[in-house]
Amino acid sequence: MTMKSIAAALLALAVIAPVHAADDATYAGLGGQQGIRNIVATLIPLIQADPRIKESFADSDMKHIGMRLEEQFCMLSGGPCEYKGEPMKEVHGGLKVTNAQFNALAEDLQVAMERNGVPSHVQNKLVAKLAPMQREIVTK
Ligand code: HEM
Repeated sequence: MTMKSIAAALLALAVIAPVHAADDATYAGLGGQQGIRNIVATLIPLIQADPRIKESFADSDMKHIGMRLEEQFCMLSGGPCEYKGEPMKEVHGGLKVTNAQFNALAEDLQVAMERNGVPSHVQNKLVAKLAPMQREIVTK
C-alpha cells in the first residue's frame, strides 16, 4: 500500500464511518439482535390477539413469520442481517389487506417496542422504515 492509497482509505473511512454509525443507531436503539428478538416475541401474541387482524394469520406458521420479521426489522434498522423471505408484494398479494389492518399491525409493533423499553424516537424510526411497504402490502 502506498501512502497515497492509505490516505485515500482513511479518507473513505472518515466519510463512511459516521454515516454507518448513524445508520445502525436504530438497530442499537432496538437493542440489537436480542432486543429485536424480544420485540418480535412480544409482537406475535399481540397480532394473534388483535381482532382487527388475527383472522388473517389463522393458518400461518407464526414461528416462521417471526423469524422473517426479525430479519426484516434487523435489516431495516441498519443491522447486520439479510431478509431471506419473499417480497412483500408476493406474500401479501392475495390477502386483501386494508390500510386499517396495516395500521393495526404497525400499532401492535409500537406496543411491543414500548413494552421492551424502546425509546419513542427509535420506535418512530422503525415505523417510518415500514411505511413505504404499505404500497406493497395493502391491496384492498
Ligand atoms: C408493517 C406491516 C407488515 C410487515 C412488515 C409484514 C411482514 C411480513 C413478513 C416478513 C412475512 C413473512 C414472509 C415470508 O414468509 O417470506 C409476512 C407474512 C404474512 N403477512 Fe405480513 N407484514 C405486514 C403486514 C401484514 C398485515 C397487515 C397482514 C394482515 C392483516 C399480514 C398478513 C400476513 C400473512 C397472513 C402472512 C403469512 C403468509 C403465509 O403464511 O403464506 N401482514 N408478513
